Amino acid sequence: MTQPLDAAVRHLVRDDAGQVAATAADLILDGLDGSSTLGLATGSSPLGAYDEIVRRVRSGAAPARVARRGYLLDEYLGLPAGDRNTYASVIRREVADALGLDVRGPDGRAADPDAEAARYGREVVEASVAVQVLGIGRNGHLGFNEPGSPLDSRTRVVRLTETTRRDNARFFDSAADVPTHAITQGLTTIMRARRLVLIALGERKADAVHAALHGPVDPACPASIIQRHPEAYVVTDRGAAGG
Ligand code: GLP
Repeated sequence: MTQPLDAAVRHLVRDDAGQVAATAADLILDGLDGSSTLGLATGSSPLGAYDEIVRRVRSGAAPARVARRGYLLDEYLGLPAGDRNTYASVIRREVADALGLDVRGPDGRAADPDAEAARYGREVVEASVAVQVLGIGRNGHLGFNEPGSPLDSRTRVVRLTETTRRDNARFFDSAADVPTHAITQGLTTIMRARRLVLIALGERKADAVHAALHGPVDPACPASIIQRHPEAYVVTDRGAAGG
């Protein structure tokens, strides 16, 4: 992949989470119309932006139909059907139901997860995602592309690192309940979205944000690949910007 000449991540630093949400909502809505597709990330970081979009739709400040369909960035493998922690459930509950958005994602209970990952990867590429919302892991992961993920990785089954499992344990009854594997859009899949909007909040993300923006583009920090995207935005508060 050659780096486009105009590639430069726009880093927008805001004073608080409310302003981060407003700026991210502007960037997301600006990249969509009712016929486009929206890539949706889980995690706490995008929640404010999702709430802001719902608020604008309800008040008439944004069109009632913000997108044609939503696509999940990743999904746990092996959770019981309908479990509240599947990313399909989380995204419906947090944003898609309120927007009346149909959501597609990989089937985390597929008998052949590798085949399901390949199938979903093709579906996402065919859907041409207009805006992909992203968070970032403390270890620089993007979706569930953990450190070490090849920069040319496709949508696939991955094993979660212990850091990620620990970070996500707060949503489960016990740490042991956090799945060990997931299907994630690959880094090349994510890079095909027309616009990326990565949201990060708080000092605990500062090192990962710094590495993603200013470090080498390297599998050690999968999020660093966004430096090669022609239209990538990173919206953070001062804490995640390093003060
Ligand atoms: C999970 C998701 C990632 C997300 C990360 C950060 O691991 N798979 O896509 O970026 O959480 O979550 P938070 O925003 O809650 O810190």
